[in-house]
Amino acid sequence: MTYTRPTAVIVLAAGEGTRMKSATPKVLHMIGGRSLVHHAIAAARGVDPLHLQVVVRHERDRVAAHIEACDPDCLIADQDEIKGTGRAVECGLAALPADLTGTVVVTYGDVPLLTSDTLRDLLRAHEASAVGVTVVTSRITDPTGYGRIVRDADGAVARIVEQKDASEAERAITEVNSGIYAFDAVLLREALAGLGTDNAQGEKYLTDVVAVAQARGRGAAAYVLADVWQTEGVNDKIQLAKLGAELNRRTVEAAMREGAIVRDPATTWIDTTVSIGRDTVIHPNTQLHGATTIGADCEIGPDTTLTDMEVGDGATVCRTQGSLSVVGPGASVGPWAYLRPGTELGADGKIGTFVETKNANIGAGSKVPHLSYVGDATIGTGTNIGAASVFVNYDGVSKHRTTVGDHCRMGSDTMYVGPLTIGDGVYSGAGSVIRHDVPAGALTLTDAPQRIVEGWVEVNRPDTDSARAAAAARAADVNSADVSSADASGASEASGRHTGDNGEEPQR
Ligand code: UD1
Ligand code: CA
Repeated sequence: MTYTRPTAVIVLAAGEGTRMKSATPKVLHMIGGRSLVHHAIAAARGVDPLHLQVVVRHERDRVAAHIEACDPDCLIADQDEIKGTGRAVECGLAALPADLTGTVVVTYGDVPLLTSDTLRDLLRAHEASAVGVTVVTSRITDPTGYGRIVRDADGAVARIVEQKDASEAERAITEVNSGIYAFDAVLLREALAGLGTDNAQGEKYLTDVVAVAQARGRGAAAYVLADVWQTEGVNDKIQLAKLGAELNRRTVEAAMREGAIVRDPATTWIDTTVSIGRDTVIHPNTQLHGATTIGADCEIGPDTTLTDMEVGDGATVCRTQGSLSVVGPGASVGPWAYLRPGTELGADGKIGTFVETKNANIGAGSKVPHLSYVGDATIGTGTNIGAASVFVNYDGVSKHRTTVGDHCRMGSDTMYVGPLTIGDGVYSGAGSVIRHDVPAGALTLTDAPQRIVEGWVEVNRPDTDSARAAAAARAADVNSADVSSADASGASEASGRHTGDNGEEPQR
Protein backbone atom coordinates (compact mmCIF):
# COMPACT_ATOMS: atom_id res chain seq x y z
CA MET A 1 0.00 0.00 0.00
CA THR A 2 1.18 3.43 -0.86
CA TYR A 3 0.70 6.65 1.08
CA THR A 4 0.01 10.26 0.26
CA ARG A 5 3.00 12.57 0.41
CA PRO A 6 2.89 14.49 3.72
CA THR A 7 2.49 18.23 3.35
CA ALA A 8 5.02 18.81 6.12
CA VAL A 9 7.42 17.16 8.49
CA ILE A 10 8.17 19.35 11.52
CA VAL A 11 11.29 18.38 13.46
CA LEU A 12 11.39 19.75 17.02
CA ALA A 13 14.82 20.96 18.10
CA ALA A 14 14.23 24.00 20.30
CA GLY A 15 14.99 22.33 23.63
CA GLU A 16 18.06 23.23 25.66
CA GLY A 17 19.52 19.82 26.35
CA THR A 18 21.02 20.89 29.68
CA ARG A 19 21.77 17.31 30.69
CA MET A 20 24.34 17.05 27.89
CA LYS A 21 26.62 19.40 29.93
CA SER A 22 28.17 20.62 26.72
CA ALA A 23 29.19 23.80 24.96
CA THR A 24 27.84 22.19 21.80
CA PRO A 25 24.05 22.32 21.30
CA LYS A 26 22.60 18.84 21.88
CA VAL A 27 21.30 18.23 18.35
CA LEU A 28 24.74 19.04 16.90
CA HIS A 29 26.43 16.14 18.67
CA MET A 30 27.51 13.41 16.28
CA ILE A 31 26.92 9.69 15.99
CA GLY A 32 27.61 7.57 12.94
CA GLY A 33 29.24 10.51 11.18
CA ARG A 34 26.23 12.82 11.34
CA SER A 35 24.73 15.19 13.86
CA LEU A 36 21.60 14.06 15.70
CA VAL A 37 19.50 16.62 13.84
CA HIS A 38 20.99 15.60 10.49
CA HIS A 39 19.83 12.02 11.14
CA ALA A 40 16.34 13.36 11.91
CA ILE A 41 16.34 15.50 8.75
CA ALA A 42 17.54 12.59 6.59
CA ALA A 43 14.77 10.32 7.91
CA ALA A 44 12.18 13.04 7.23
CA ARG A 45 13.57 13.70 3.74
CA GLY A 46 12.98 10.03 2.97
CA VAL A 47 9.19 10.51 2.95
CA ASP A 48 9.50 13.45 0.53
CA PRO A 49 7.43 16.07 2.40
CA LEU A 50 6.30 19.21 0.62
CA HIS A 51 7.79 21.24 3.50
CA LEU A 52 10.57 20.04 5.78
CA GLN A 53 10.99 22.28 8.77
CA VAL A 54 13.05 22.34 11.95
CA VAL A 55 11.89 24.36 14.97
CA VAL A 56 14.80 25.94 16.84
CA ARG A 57 15.39 28.25 19.78
CA HIS A 58 18.34 27.27 21.99
CA GLU A 59 21.61 28.39 20.26
CA ARG A 60 19.38 29.30 17.35
CA ASP A 61 22.02 30.71 14.97
CA ARG A 62 24.48 27.88 15.41
CA VAL A 63 21.82 25.22 14.97
CA ALA A 64 20.25 27.01 11.99
CA ALA A 65 23.63 27.37 10.23
CA HIS A 66 24.30 23.68 10.75
CA ILE A 67 20.89 22.68 9.38
CA GLU A 68 21.44 24.91 6.36
CA ALA A 69 24.72 23.08 5.70
CA CYS A 70 23.09 19.64 6.09
CA ASP A 71 20.05 20.34 3.94
CA PRO A 72 19.77 23.74 2.23
CA ASP A 73 16.09 23.14 1.43
CA CYS A 74 15.16 22.68 5.07
CA LEU A 75 13.04 25.49 6.55
CA ILE A 76 13.85 26.98 9.96
CA ALA A 77 11.14 28.18 12.35
CA ASP A 78 11.76 29.94 15.64
CA GLN A 79 9.97 29.03 18.84
CA ASP A 80 9.12 31.95 21.12
CA GLU A 81 9.43 32.11 24.92
CA ILE A 82 6.32 30.00 25.51
CA LYS A 83 7.47 26.51 26.38
CA GLY A 84 6.35 23.07 25.33
CA THR A 85 6.21 20.70 22.40
CA GLY A 86 2.74 22.01 21.47
CA ARG A 87 4.04 25.57 21.30
CA ALA A 88 7.01 24.38 19.21
CA VAL A 89 4.66 22.85 16.63
CA GLU A 90 2.43 25.93 16.72
CA CYS A 91 5.44 28.13 15.93
CA GLY A 92 6.37 25.72 13.14
CA LEU A 93 2.89 25.88 11.61
CA ALA A 94 2.90 29.67 11.83
CA ALA A 95 5.89 29.72 9.47
CA LEU A 96 4.14 27.44 6.94
CA PRO A 97 1.26 28.39 4.60
CA ALA A 98 -1.84 29.28 6.68
CA ASP A 99 -4.10 27.11 4.52
CA LEU A 100 -1.95 23.99 4.94
CA THR A 101 -3.98 20.78 4.68
CA GLY A 102 -3.10 17.09 4.44
CA THR A 103 -0.82 15.24 6.84
CA VAL A 104 1.75 16.84 9.12
CA VAL A 105 4.35 14.54 10.68
CA VAL A 106 6.15 15.60 13.86
CA THR A 107 9.51 14.12 14.91
CA TYR A 108 12.33 15.11 17.29
CA GLY A 109 15.77 16.41 16.40
CA ASP A 110 17.36 14.34 19.18
CA VAL A 111 15.97 10.93 18.11
CA PRO A 112 18.61 9.72 15.64
CA LEU A 113 17.75 6.08 14.90
CA LEU A 114 14.27 6.70 13.47
CA THR A 115 14.18 5.56 9.83
CA SER A 116 12.29 6.73 6.77
CA ASP A 117 10.80 3.23 6.56
CA THR A 118 9.15 3.71 9.96
CA LEU A 119 7.76 7.09 8.92
CA ARG A 120 6.35 5.45 5.78
CA ASP A 121 4.70 2.77 7.91
CA LEU A 122 3.26 5.47 10.16
CA LEU A 123 1.86 7.34 7.16
CA ARG A 124 0.28 4.17 5.75
CA ALA A 125 -1.29 3.29 9.11
CA HIS A 126 -2.52 6.86 9.57
CA GLU A 127 -4.09 6.93 6.14
CA ALA A 128 -5.67 3.48 6.51
CA SER A 129 -7.38 4.32 9.79
CA ALA A 130 -8.43 7.83 8.66
CA VAL A 131 -8.10 9.25 12.19
CA GLY A 132 -7.17 12.80 13.18
CA VAL A 133 -3.89 11.75 14.79
CA THR A 134 -1.74 8.62 14.86
CA VAL A 135 0.93 8.45 17.53
CA VAL A 136 3.93 6.13 17.42
CA THR A 137 4.08 4.25 20.73
CA SER A 138 6.19 1.53 22.27
CA ARG A 139 5.75 -0.88 25.13
CA ILE A 140 8.69 -0.75 27.52
CA THR A 141 9.44 -2.23 30.91
CA ASP A 142 10.46 1.04 32.58
CA PRO A 143 8.14 3.84 31.34
CA THR A 144 9.47 6.42 33.84
CA GLY A 145 9.61 9.91 32.38
CA TYR A 146 7.55 9.22 29.28
CA GLY A 147 4.02 10.28 28.45
CA ARG A 148 1.67 7.31 28.95
CA ILE A 149 -0.87 6.16 26.40
CA VAL A 150 -4.26 6.03 28.09
CA ARG A 151 -6.67 3.75 26.24
CA ASP A 152 -10.43 3.58 26.80
CA ALA A 153 -12.51 0.47 27.47
CA ASP A 154 -12.50 -0.43 23.75
CA GLY A 155 -8.75 -0.12 23.62
CA ALA A 156 -8.87 3.10 21.57
CA VAL A 157 -6.28 5.77 22.38
CA ALA A 158 -8.11 8.26 24.61
CA ARG A 159 -5.33 10.66 25.60
CA ILE A 160 -1.70 10.96 26.60
CA VAL A 161 -0.77 11.86 30.15
CA GLU A 162 2.69 13.14 31.08
CA GLN A 163 4.66 11.53 33.92
CA LYS A 164 4.33 14.65 36.08
CA ASP A 165 0.56 14.87 35.59
CA ALA A 166 -0.17 11.14 35.84
CA SER A 167 -2.04 9.35 38.63
CA GLU A 168 -0.54 6.30 40.31
CA ALA A 169 -2.67 4.04 38.10
CA GLU A 170 -1.63 5.90 34.92
CA ARG A 171 2.03 5.67 35.85
CA ALA A 172 1.68 1.88 35.79
CA ILE A 173 0.89 2.02 32.05
CA THR A 174 3.84 0.69 30.05
CA GLU A 175 2.77 1.89 26.61
CA VAL A 176 4.55 5.20 26.08
CA ASN A 177 4.48 8.12 23.67
CA SER A 178 7.53 8.23 21.36
CA GLY A 179 6.86 11.85 20.40
CA ILE A 180 6.47 10.90 16.73
CA TYR A 181 3.06 11.54 15.19
CA ALA A 182 1.04 11.97 12.03
CA PHE A 183 -1.65 14.68 12.31
CA ASP A 184 -4.36 16.02 10.12
CA ALA A 185 -3.03 19.55 9.49
CA VAL A 186 -6.31 21.39 10.07
CA LEU A 187 -7.10 19.51 13.28
CA LEU A 188 -3.57 20.12 14.55
CA ARG A 189 -3.73 23.86 13.93
CA GLU A 190 -7.17 24.26 15.49
CA ALA A 191 -6.43 22.05 18.48
CA LEU A 192 -3.16 23.86 19.31
CA ALA A 193 -4.91 27.24 19.17
CA GLY A 194 -7.30 26.06 21.88
CA LEU A 195 -4.71 24.55 24.24
CA GLY A 196 -3.52 26.15 27.45
CA THR A 197 -0.59 25.54 29.76
CA ASP A 198 -2.55 24.37 32.77
CA ASN A 199 -0.43 21.35 33.70
CA ALA A 200 2.34 20.35 36.07
CA GLN A 201 5.05 21.88 33.84
CA GLY A 202 3.16 25.01 32.72
CA GLU A 203 3.86 24.09 29.11
CA LYS A 204 1.79 23.80 25.97
CA TYR A 205 1.70 20.03 25.45
CA LEU A 206 1.52 18.60 21.93
CA THR A 207 0.25 15.41 23.56
CA ASP A 208 -3.02 17.16 24.48
CA VAL A 209 -3.99 17.22 20.78
CA VAL A 210 -4.85 13.51 21.10
CA ALA A 211 -7.70 14.15 23.58
CA VAL A 212 -8.93 17.06 21.42
CA ALA A 213 -9.07 14.76 18.38
CA GLN A 214 -11.19 12.29 20.33
CA ALA A 215 -13.44 15.01 21.74
CA ARG A 216 -14.09 16.30 18.23
CA GLY A 217 -14.89 12.82 16.99
CA ARG A 218 -11.88 12.77 14.67
CA GLY A 219 -10.37 9.77 16.39
CA ALA A 220 -6.84 8.91 17.50
CA ALA A 221 -4.82 5.76 16.93
CA ALA A 222 -1.50 4.28 17.98
CA TYR A 223 1.12 2.79 15.72
CA VAL A 224 3.00 0.44 18.06
CA LEU A 225 6.65 0.19 17.09
CA ALA A 226 8.47 -2.94 18.28
CA ASP A 227 11.91 -1.51 17.51
CA VAL A 228 12.23 0.72 20.58
CA TRP A 229 15.69 2.01 19.61
CA GLN A 230 14.10 4.05 16.85
CA THR A 231 12.18 6.18 19.32
CA GLU A 232 14.97 6.68 21.87
CA GLY A 233 16.19 10.21 22.38
CA VAL A 234 19.57 11.51 23.45
CA ASN A 235 19.46 13.49 26.67
CA ASP A 236 22.97 12.98 28.01
CA LYS A 237 26.37 11.73 26.89
CA ILE A 238 25.70 8.21 28.14
CA GLN A 239 22.72 7.93 25.81
CA LEU A 240 24.80 9.51 23.06
CA ALA A 241 27.32 6.66 23.35
CA LYS A 242 24.59 4.02 23.71
CA LEU A 243 22.70 5.13 20.62
CA GLY A 244 25.98 5.66 18.76
CA ALA A 245 26.95 2.04 19.42
CA GLU A 246 23.53 0.75 18.39
CA LEU A 247 23.54 2.83 15.20
CA ASN A 248 26.99 1.46 14.42
CA ARG A 249 25.83 -2.09 15.04
CA ARG A 250 23.02 -1.50 12.54
CA THR A 251 25.33 0.12 9.99
CA VAL A 252 27.89 -2.70 10.23
CA GLU A 253 25.11 -5.26 9.79
CA ALA A 254 23.79 -3.38 6.77
CA ALA A 255 27.30 -3.44 5.26
CA MET A 256 27.48 -7.20 5.78
CA ARG A 257 24.03 -7.61 4.24
CA GLU A 258 25.40 -5.77 1.20
CA GLY A 259 28.27 -8.25 0.96
CA ALA A 260 31.14 -6.90 3.08
CA ILE A 261 33.02 -9.32 5.34
CA VAL A 262 33.50 -7.76 8.77
CA ARG A 263 35.89 -9.79 10.94
CA ASP A 264 35.11 -8.01 14.19
CA PRO A 265 31.88 -5.98 14.26
CA ALA A 266 32.59 -4.92 17.85
CA THR A 267 35.70 -2.92 16.90
CA THR A 268 34.58 -1.78 13.47
CA TRP A 269 33.03 1.68 13.22
CA ILE A 270 31.31 2.67 10.01
CA ASP A 271 29.48 5.95 9.39
CA THR A 272 26.05 5.72 7.82
CA THR A 273 27.43 7.57 4.79
CA VAL A 274 30.05 4.95 3.88
CA SER A 275 29.69 2.35 1.13
CA ILE A 276 31.61 -0.93 0.88
CA GLY A 277 31.74 -3.33 -2.07
CA ARG A 278 31.17 -7.06 -2.03
CA ASP A 279 33.65 -9.47 -0.47
CA THR A 280 35.77 -6.66 0.86
CA VAL A 281 37.27 -7.77 4.18
CA ILE A 282 37.22 -5.28 7.05
CA HIS A 283 39.75 -6.30 9.70
CA PRO A 284 39.49 -5.38 13.42
CA ASN A 285 39.86 -1.83 14.71
CA THR A 286 38.89 -0.18 11.48
CA GLN A 287 36.98 3.12 11.31
CA LEU A 288 35.44 4.27 8.05
CA HIS A 289 34.14 7.82 8.11
CA GLY A 290 32.38 10.43 6.05
CA ALA A 291 32.03 10.06 2.30
CA THR A 292 34.34 7.05 2.17
CA THR A 293 33.65 4.53 -0.58
CA ILE A 294 35.44 1.19 -0.65
CA GLY A 295 35.34 -1.03 -3.73
CA ALA A 296 34.87 -4.78 -3.95
CA ASP A 297 37.42 -7.44 -2.95
CA CYS A 298 39.56 -5.07 -0.87
CA GLU A 299 41.41 -5.79 2.37
CA ILE A 300 40.95 -2.90 4.83
CA GLY A 301 42.64 -2.79 8.23
CA PRO A 302 43.43 -3.84 10.84
CA ASP A 303 43.95 -0.57 12.76
CA THR A 304 42.92 1.72 9.94
CA THR A 305 41.04 5.01 9.94
CA LEU A 306 39.80 6.35 6.61
CA THR A 307 37.84 9.58 6.26
CA ASP A 308 36.37 10.78 2.95
CA MET A 309 38.48 8.27 1.03
CA GLU A 310 37.89 6.51 -2.25
CA VAL A 311 39.40 3.02 -2.46
CA GLY A 312 39.22 1.06 -5.72
CA ASP A 313 38.43 -2.61 -6.20
CA GLY A 314 40.99 -5.11 -4.96
CA ALA A 315 43.07 -2.59 -3.02
CA THR A 316 44.80 -3.32 0.30
CA VAL A 317 44.98 -0.69 3.05
CA CYS A 318 46.67 -1.90 6.23
CA ARG A 319 47.34 0.03 9.48
CA THR A 320 46.77 3.34 7.77
CA GLN A 321 45.36 6.76 8.55
CA GLY A 322 43.99 8.50 5.48
CA SER A 323 41.69 11.34 4.52
CA LEU A 324 40.43 12.99 1.31
CA SER A 325 42.55 10.68 -0.83
CA VAL A 326 42.11 8.17 -3.61
CA VAL A 327 43.61 4.66 -3.66
CA GLY A 328 43.40 3.08 -7.11
CA PRO A 329 42.22 -0.44 -7.88
CA GLY A 330 44.69 -3.13 -6.91
CA ALA A 331 46.90 -0.65 -5.08
CA SER A 332 48.54 -1.35 -1.76
CA VAL A 333 48.89 1.02 1.22
CA GLY A 334 50.70 0.48 4.50
CA PRO A 335 51.34 -0.93 6.97
CA TRP A 336 51.87 2.35 8.82
CA ALA A 337 51.06 4.84 6.12
CA TYR A 338 49.63 8.34 6.53
CA LEU A 339 47.69 9.62 3.54
CA ARG A 340 46.92 13.30 3.92
CA PRO A 341 44.45 15.20 1.73
CA GLY A 342 45.11 15.26 -1.98
CA THR A 343 46.89 11.93 -2.27
CA GLU A 344 46.00 9.99 -5.40
CA LEU A 345 47.57 6.58 -5.82
CA GLY A 346 47.08 5.00 -9.25
CA ALA A 347 46.04 1.46 -10.07
CA ASP A 348 48.37 -1.21 -8.68
CA GLY A 349 50.57 1.44 -7.09
CA LYS A 350 52.14 1.17 -3.65
CA ILE A 351 52.50 3.49 -0.69
CA GLY A 352 54.40 1.35 1.77
CA THR A 353 55.65 1.28 5.31
CA PHE A 354 56.15 4.53 7.24
CA VAL A 355 55.30 6.71 4.28
CA GLU A 356 53.51 10.07 4.54
CA THR A 357 51.92 11.66 1.50
CA LYS A 358 50.10 14.94 0.81
CA ASN A 359 48.93 16.52 -2.46
CA ALA A 360 50.71 13.69 -4.18
CA ASN A 361 49.66 12.13 -7.44
CA ILE A 362 51.41 8.79 -7.72
CA GLY A 363 50.79 7.12 -11.07
CA ALA A 364 49.65 3.61 -11.92
CA GLY A 365 52.14 0.94 -10.89
CA SER A 366 54.45 3.44 -9.20
CA LYS A 367 55.85 2.64 -5.79
CA VAL A 368 56.95 4.54 -2.70
CA PRO A 369 57.67 1.49 -0.60
CA HIS A 370 59.53 2.63 2.52
CA LEU A 371 60.14 5.46 4.99
CA SER A 372 59.43 8.48 2.82
CA TYR A 373 57.62 11.81 2.68
CA VAL A 374 55.95 12.67 -0.62
CA GLY A 375 54.39 16.14 -0.54
CA ASP A 376 53.31 18.30 -3.48
CA ALA A 377 54.48 15.77 -6.03
CA THR A 378 53.39 14.28 -9.32
CA ILE A 379 54.95 10.92 -10.03
CA GLY A 380 54.36 9.22 -13.37
CA THR A 381 53.60 5.56 -14.03
CA GLY A 382 55.86 2.60 -13.28
CA THR A 383 58.32 4.66 -11.25
CA ASN A 384 60.09 3.48 -8.11
CA ILE A 385 61.03 5.92 -5.36
CA GLY A 386 63.85 4.53 -3.23
CA ALA A 387 63.58 4.12 0.53
CA ALA A 388 63.99 7.09 2.87
CA SER A 389 63.32 9.78 0.32
CA VAL A 390 61.91 13.22 1.00
CA PHE A 391 60.12 15.52 -1.38
CA VAL A 392 61.50 18.77 -0.01
CA ASN A 393 58.48 20.91 -0.82
CA TYR A 394 58.88 23.78 1.62
CA ASP A 395 61.57 26.45 1.50
CA GLY A 396 60.44 28.06 4.72
CA VAL A 397 58.11 30.46 2.93
CA SER A 398 56.43 28.71 0.00
CA LYS A 399 55.51 25.21 -1.11
CA HIS A 400 56.98 23.88 -4.36
CA ARG A 401 55.96 20.97 -6.53
CA THR A 402 58.15 18.19 -7.89
CA THR A 403 57.33 16.18 -10.98
CA VAL A 404 58.92 12.79 -11.62
CA GLY A 405 58.39 11.08 -14.98
CA ASP A 406 57.38 7.55 -15.97
CA HIS A 407 59.49 4.44 -15.35
CA CYS A 408 62.16 6.17 -13.29
CA ARG A 409 64.38 4.24 -10.87
CA MET A 410 65.17 6.70 -8.14
CA GLY A 411 67.78 5.84 -5.52
CA SER A 412 67.31 5.56 -1.80
CA ASP A 413 67.81 8.47 0.58
CA THR A 414 67.12 11.06 -2.09
CA MET A 415 66.06 14.66 -1.45
CA TYR A 416 63.88 16.14 -4.19
CA VAL A 417 64.27 19.89 -3.69
CA GLY A 418 61.28 21.52 -5.39
CA PRO A 419 60.43 23.09 -7.73
CA LEU A 420 61.82 20.27 -9.80
CA THR A 421 61.09 18.33 -12.96
CA ILE A 422 62.57 14.92 -13.56
CA GLY A 423 62.02 13.41 -17.01
CA ASP A 424 60.90 9.92 -17.99
CA GLY A 425 63.18 6.93 -17.55
CA VAL A 426 65.61 8.70 -15.22
CA TYR A 427 67.93 6.79 -12.84
CA SER A 428 69.44 8.35 -9.75
CA GLY A 429 72.10 7.35 -7.29
CA ALA A 430 71.49 6.73 -3.60
CA GLY A 431 71.89 9.69 -1.30
CA SER A 432 71.33 12.31 -3.98
CA VAL A 433 70.19 15.82 -3.29
CA ILE A 434 68.42 16.72 -6.53
CA ARG A 435 68.19 20.49 -6.95
CA HIS A 436 68.17 20.84 -10.72
CA ASP A 437 65.85 19.46 -13.40
CA VAL A 438 66.92 16.15 -14.91
CA PRO A 439 66.26 15.36 -18.59
CA ALA A 440 64.66 12.08 -19.71
CA GLY A 441 66.90 9.06 -19.67
CA ALA A 442 69.71 10.67 -17.64
CA LEU A 443 71.48 9.34 -14.58
CA THR A 444 71.75 11.87 -11.79
CA LEU A 445 73.77 11.51 -8.62
CA THR A 446 75.29 13.70 -5.98
CA ASP A 447 78.98 13.26 -6.47
CA ALA A 448 80.57 13.86 -3.09
CA PRO A 449 83.75 11.87 -2.63
CA GLN A 450 83.62 9.38 0.20
CA ARG A 451 86.59 9.87 2.51
CA ILE A 452 88.17 7.35 4.85
CA VAL A 453 90.27 8.53 7.77
CA GLU A 454 92.11 5.46 8.95
CA GLY A 455 92.50 4.98 12.69
CA TRP A 456 90.39 8.01 13.61
CA VAL A 457 88.38 6.21 16.27
CA GLU A 458 91.29 4.83 18.30
CA VAL A 459 92.94 8.28 18.35
CA ASN A 460 89.87 10.42 19.00
CA ARG A 461 87.61 8.10 20.94
CA PRO A 462 89.99 6.16 23.14
CA ASP A 463 88.66 3.86 25.85
CA THR A 464 85.38 3.33 24.07
CA ASP A 465 83.82 0.04 23.01
CA SER A 466 84.25 1.24 19.43
CA ALA A 467 87.98 1.82 19.90
CA ARG A 468 88.43 -1.54 21.60
CA ALA A 469 86.51 -3.31 18.81
CA ALA A 470 88.67 -1.54 16.22
CA ALA A 471 91.90 -2.51 18.05
CA ALA A 472 90.78 -6.11 18.33
CA ALA A 473 89.90 -6.24 14.63
CA ARG A 474 93.31 -4.75 13.73
CA ALA A 475 95.14 -7.21 15.96
CA ALA A 476 93.25 -10.10 14.41
CA ASP A 477 94.01 -8.97 10.89
CA VAL A 478 97.78 -8.93 10.22
CA ASN A 479 97.13 -7.12 6.96
CA SER A 480 95.14 -4.27 8.46
CA ALA A 481 96.60 -0.79 8.18
CA ASP A 482 98.73 0.43 11.12
CA VAL A 483 97.82 3.85 12.50
CA SER A 484 101.45 4.97 12.51
CA SER A 485 101.90 4.08 8.85
CA ALA A 486 98.73 5.78 7.58
CA ASP A 487 99.23 8.31 4.78
CA ALA A 488 99.91 11.90 5.62
CA SER A 489 96.44 13.38 5.02
CA GLY A 490 94.76 10.56 6.93
CA ALA A 491 97.11 10.99 9.88
CA SER A 492 96.48 14.71 10.09
CA GLU A 493 92.69 14.21 10.10
CA ALA A 494 93.01 11.40 12.61
CA SER A 495 94.38 14.00 15.01
CA GLY A 496 90.93 15.28 15.74
CA ARG A 497 89.25 17.36 13.04
CA HIS A 498 85.76 16.20 12.15
CA THR A 499 85.29 14.94 8.65
CA GLY A 500 82.93 16.65 6.23
CA ASP A 501 82.85 18.81 3.20
CA ASN A 502 82.43 22.53 3.08
CA GLY A 503 80.02 23.91 0.56
CA GLU A 504 77.41 22.29 -1.62
CA GLU A 505 77.89 18.86 -3.04
CA PRO A 506 77.90 18.96 -6.82
CA GLN A 507 75.02 17.20 -8.58
CA ARG A 508 75.99 15.57 -11.82
C1 UD1 B 1 7.87 14.45 25.33
C2 UD1 B 1 6.39 14.09 25.36
C3 UD1 B 1 6.23 12.73 26.03
C4 UD1 B 1 7.04 11.69 25.31
C5 UD1 B 1 8.49 12.13 25.21
C6 UD1 B 1 9.23 11.17 24.34
C7 UD1 B 1 5.16 16.17 25.46
C8 UD1 B 1 4.43 17.11 26.35
N1 UD1 B 1 5.68 15.11 26.07
O1 UD1 B 1 8.31 14.51 26.66
O2 UD1 B 1 4.85 12.36 26.03
O3 UD1 B 1 6.93 10.45 25.97
O4 UD1 B 1 8.57 13.43 24.62
O5 UD1 B 1 10.60 11.50 24.36
O6 UD1 B 1 5.24 16.39 24.28
N2 UD1 B 1 11.08 20.68 22.32
C9 UD1 B 1 10.95 21.88 21.66
N3 UD1 B 1 10.41 22.93 22.31
C10 UD1 B 1 9.98 22.85 23.59
C11 UD1 B 1 10.11 21.62 24.26
C12 UD1 B 1 10.65 20.55 23.60
O7 UD1 B 1 11.36 22.00 20.50
O8 UD1 B 1 9.49 23.86 24.12
C13 UD1 B 1 11.69 19.54 21.63
C14 UD1 B 1 12.98 19.12 22.29
O9 UD1 B 1 14.08 19.78 21.69
C15 UD1 B 1 13.00 17.62 22.02
C16 UD1 B 1 11.53 17.25 21.95
O10 UD1 B 1 10.83 18.45 21.71
O11 UD1 B 1 13.57 17.33 20.78
C17 UD1 B 1 11.04 16.58 23.22
O12 UD1 B 1 11.28 17.43 24.29
P1 UD1 B 1 11.49 16.85 25.73
O13 UD1 B 1 11.59 17.99 26.69
O14 UD1 B 1 12.56 15.84 25.73
O15 UD1 B 1 10.06 16.12 25.92
P2 UD1 B 1 9.56 15.41 27.21
O16 UD1 B 1 8.98 16.43 28.11
O17 UD1 B 1 10.59 14.50 27.71
CA1 CA C 1 13.19 13.72 26.01
